[in-house]
Amino acid sequence: MPRMESPRAAGIESIGIAVPDAYVDLADLAAARGVEPAKYIAGLGVTRMAIPSVREDAVTLAARAGERALASGAIDPASIGLLIVGTETGVDHSKPVASFVQGLLGVSRSARVFETKHACYAATAALQMALDWVRSGSARGKKALVIGADVARYGLRTPGEPTQGAGAAALVVSDSPAILAVDAGLSGVASEDVLDFWRPLYSKDAFVDGHYSVSCYLAALEGAFVDYRRSAGADGSAAGFTDRFDAIVYHVPYGKMARKAHQHLRRCDGDADPDASFDRMVAPSLVYPSLVGNCYAASLYLAFASLLAHSERDLAGRSVALFSYGSGYCGELFSGTVAEGARERVRALAFDASLAARRRLPIAEYEELMRAREDQDRMPRSDDGEGIRLLGVEQHKRVYAR
Ligand code: CAA
Repeated sequence: MPRMESPRAAGIESIGIAVPDAYVDLADLAAARGVEPAKYIAGLGVTRMAIPSVREDAVTLAARAGERALASGAIDPASIGLLIVGTETGVDHSKPVASFVQGLLGVSRSARVFETKHACYAATAALQMALDWVRSGSARGKKALVIGADVARYGLRTPGEPTQGAGAAALVVSDSPAILAVDAGLSGVASEDVLDFWRPLYSKDAFVDGHYSVSCYLAALEGAFVDYRRSAGADGSAAGFTDRFDAIVYHVPYGKMARKAHQHLRRCDGDADPDASFDRMVAPSLVYPSLVGNCYAASLYLAFASLLAHSERDLAGRSVALFSYGSGYCGELFSGTVAEGARERVRALAFDASLAARRRLPIAEYEELMRAREDQDRMPRSDDGEGIRLLGVEQHKRVYAR
């Protein structure tokens, strides 16, 4: 009989994060909406939400994050053989965001390039595909660049308004996982056809059945946990399975959702005091999300970067679980081991300093920007500004500049 070879190690080699340079302070929004600030800040667990300018979209955010991930790992764009952008706020029904990113970053012309979609799960679908591509040997020494990029947008004065945000997280995936070695074969999935959150083709704003979406998230988490435990060959009746993880990172539409998720997961795991482990296992992952807001496909990986940068303990050599949730729904729980030096690599991104340097938008300006973004697809060209940005739309073609 042929000998079964164990799969190659695969995981995340480097990370890059990009968010808009402006934000709305939730205390300002609460005052403008006649709501107690405590509802947004303590009740939802959000203090600021990133707001993109008219020159920013999923392409510019993805390209900026991708550029940082490549620079952080000193990775040549020519070594990328697979480029996938997971997004639910793409800019074209045919041309993928990844294709624009390929042009902006000079990624190899022999790369396989495409977009994935399943709400906030899109980047995790891409990550899992990239990991299997590396493990199978099909990568032939090349690396994958997987990016989650989104502009989370609900209508003005809707219940979803305080849970907006925008950003991108880029992951270089390879057989040299200098950030996280992802466990092969250990993963749990739960999926179901529901309408908890959606965005019809004709709308810039997402629609959501808010409280129902929370219960769908928790159902997906529970299903994925049961499936993960099965993949690990564990006895379903034994309590304390999740104690094998030093930290659990959740998809963060708003910080309070991660707390609800942790309570639910630990209760499913037989923990009568699920809050007791929250500060140790979850809190460090919520620092960045509370300052950025939701960024859909990027949200889980923004939270993962936050965990590495803000955990007091060095998690090198420790096991971490990640739960990805995409409305509609598909949820996946997977895990990995943090690499030696991962904390230093993520801290070297100096993301805290970038967040501190952002501009606080007055509410009137934010509302005007939201209206102006409605017309972004027809925006006339202007070459003002610098850096990676949308110059405008000419003859139905989006034109970007570095
Ligand atoms: N002080 C402290 N807390 C307060 C408060 C005050 N003065 N006033 C209210 N609160 C608390 C409430 O008790 C509540 O906490 P609990 O959930 O722990 O009970 C919290 O603040 C929110 O209050 P409400 O439930 O009354 O808020 P709401 O009905 O206006 O809307 C929401 C909340 C449904 C999350 C809404 O913001 C929304 O629809 N958001 C978008 C949907 C979403 O993010 N869903 C998450 C799951 S789906 C997903 O994860 C995919 C994705 O990315 C979209």
